[in-house]
Amino acid sequence: MFIFKKVGDLDEYLQKRRADGDKIGFVPTMGALHEGHISLVARCKADGVLSVCSIFVNPTQFNDKNDLARYPVSTEADMELLLRAGCDVLFLPDVSEIYPGGEDKAPVYDFGYLDTILEGAQRPGHFKGVGQVVARLLQIVRPQKLYMGQKDYQQCMVVRRLLQIMGTDTELEICPIIREADGLAMSSRNRRLTEPQRTLAGIIYQCLVSIQAKQGTDNFALVRKECEELLRAKGLTPEYVSLADARDLRLLDNYEHNTLMVALIAARMGDIRLIDNILL
Ligand code: PAJ
Repeated sequence: MFIFKKVGDLDEYLQKRRADGDKIGFVPTMGALHEGHISLVARCKADGVLSVCSIFVNPTQFNDKNDLARYPVSTEADMELLLRAGCDVLFLPDVSEIYPGGEDKAPVYDFGYLDTILEGAQRPGHFKGVGQVVARLLQIVRPQKLYMGQKDYQQCMVVRRLLQIMGTDTELEICPIIREADGLAMSSRNRRLTEPQRTLAGIIYQCLVSIQAKQGTDNFALVRKECEELLRAKGLTPEYVSLADARDLRLLDNYEHNTLMVALIAARMGDIRLIDNILL
């Protein structure tokens, strides 16, 4: 695995690979890697493209600066995991490589409605930061394929919009959510949960499954109320339990027939924020 810290060095290497006819697949991450991240690298490798992974804890997407300060960092272990996964290239830039003109000078992209709901509403400025870092990384790596996880469903929609705005022909591959045995979606933040909290957090997935199973009731308001109660009973504070059109994230008051839907949950366990979703 080649490791680059400087944009110039990575660019020089990728130019050679492009000249050799290689296609590039890109997996952007913030590190503290787990099997969810590794599944993206595996998918990239299965597609037969050069696998480029980045680890960069992007300051501009943390609306809560305490969350940034507490974000887990485990670069040595991450490198080991990537090596074992057969990752070809790791990009490990520091802030000055990503934001050479300063964080405030990075271009801002407008995601309209997408930025006003769910994560956009709960974390003002979050998607602005995601747009800034993903745009910059895409300009550096210039991949044919970009691999992202359905775990961050709204982020996938935002990035799909970003690709349109940027007018690139990079293809977005949305990859399935990798879960723990009890259904909890893998997340870097899970490592901050205590063992009892970790066990209780399994309720989030159970709620999503029940939203899916109760589609026939045609009463999402009641199902939502039940889920919120279940979450609270396990010590979680729900931020939202929502149903949306899976194509454009238009929020729905009730189940709709003939619509591909997605149910999304965000809940806090103490100061740890967890999100998950399921397609219906
Ligand atoms: P991060 O949270 O590190 O996630 C990196 C990628 O891994 C994202 O595409 C995310 O959806 C995916 N991922 C996380 N958990 C997953 C799981 N359990 N199963 C499948 N995929 C999973 O998302 C970010 O970083 C950042 O916002 C980033 C896009 C890198 C921009 O800074």
